Amino acid sequence: MRTIPRLSGSRGHIQTRRFATAVAMATLNINSKYKMLSGHEIPLLGFGVYQTPANVAEDVTLHAFKTGYRHVDSARVYRNEQPCADAIRKAGIPRSEIFFTSKVPPRAMGYEKTKDSINSSFSQTGLDYIDLYLIHAPYGGKEARNGSWRALVEAKEAGIIRSIGVSNYGVHHLNELETYIAELEESHGKGKGGEISVGQWELHPWLARRDIVDWCKERGVVCEAYCPIIRGQRFGEKALQHLAKKHAKTPAQVLLRWSLQKGFVPLPKSITPSRIEENADIYDFEIDAEDMKALETTAYEPCAWDPTTSND
Ligand SMILES: NC(=O)c1ccc[n+]([C@@H]2O[C@H](COP(=O)([O-])OP(=O)(O)OC[C@H]3O[C@@H](n4cnc5c(N)ncnc54)[C@H](OP(=O)(O)O)[C@@H]3O)[C@@H](O)[C@H]2O)c1
Repeated sequence: MRTIPRLSGSRGHIQTRRFATAVAMATLNINSKYKMLSGHEIPLLGFGVYQTPANVAEDVTLHAFKTGYRHVDSARVYRNEQPCADAIRKAGIPRSEIFFTSKVPPRAMGYEKTKDSINSSFSQTGLDYIDLYLIHAPYGGKEARNGSWRALVEAKEAGIIRSIGVSNYGVHHLNELETYIAELEESHGKGKGGEISVGQWELHPWLARRDIVDWCKERGVVCEAYCPIIRGQRFGEKALQHLAKKHAKTPAQVLLRWSLQKGFVPLPKSITPSRIEENADIYDFEIDAEDMKALETTAYEPCAWDPTTSND
């Protein structure tokens, strides 16, 4: 059965997220959220902080909050969970309106090490709960992946993590995890396997990952898009330039709007205040269905690492 996440707007309306290009995109705004399989909501626009130095992370995160972002994507390996959490405390915004993500580092795969990783996130951030915790990459072998998942499920049951998911999993890793969840349900009871609320991948017009995105759509898993502006490396592409001119927007804004309209949750990163604002100014135009198609390619050209193909 196809499960479809739901889109909720600032006025609290809930709308079915069918195939993104078919959604009435005019309803999107900076406060739009999807409802995840966990039952919690996730803001559609995230603020990425990979390679954001710890000594500027608090300031830029505060600037992002002032601009209207309510979602921060960090990780243990980014070494900036603490300044991001400081910004959350200092923003003057209710904690319940902010969404904070961290991730299990590849070196912490396995049940015990993942528990330690989660504990370290809490001791560093001082947060009462973390909204989303992801397995950063499918490394370490099946036993370690399953062990990490079990630790996440337990943290979720304990109420300290609200939603759980994975990043950089290939379809073979996703199938393996789905089987493990079914086994946990069988042995421990219904609802005891946890649910994959979110998957995070490099996703953009030159890396559409149709197999993975379809897997998620079938099950109602929210797809987050990292490197949504391809680290600025493709701004000169003809199709992108054409759409930027057509809508009087920048190539970065076109790429982010494309990502939203695909039904993804884009996570643009910037330490530059004007770019932080530019990347959130994407709600006053819409890419039509024909242009959405024209922008997408069949290329498979990651600009970052690609653990989805790992076979260990
Ligand atoms: N799960 C994973 O394995 C994984 C991997 C990579 C990334 N991520 C997540 O996804 C987030 C985004 O990915 P990313 O940081 O690699 O790539 P990105 O967001 O596509 O690009 C960031 C780069 O583009 C520049 N930039 C930002 N906005 C711009 C604009 N409007 N015009 C021109 N240049 C602009 C930034 O420079 P300045 O900062 O100097 O402004 C930075 O160099 C990360 O921060 C992280 O949260 C996850």
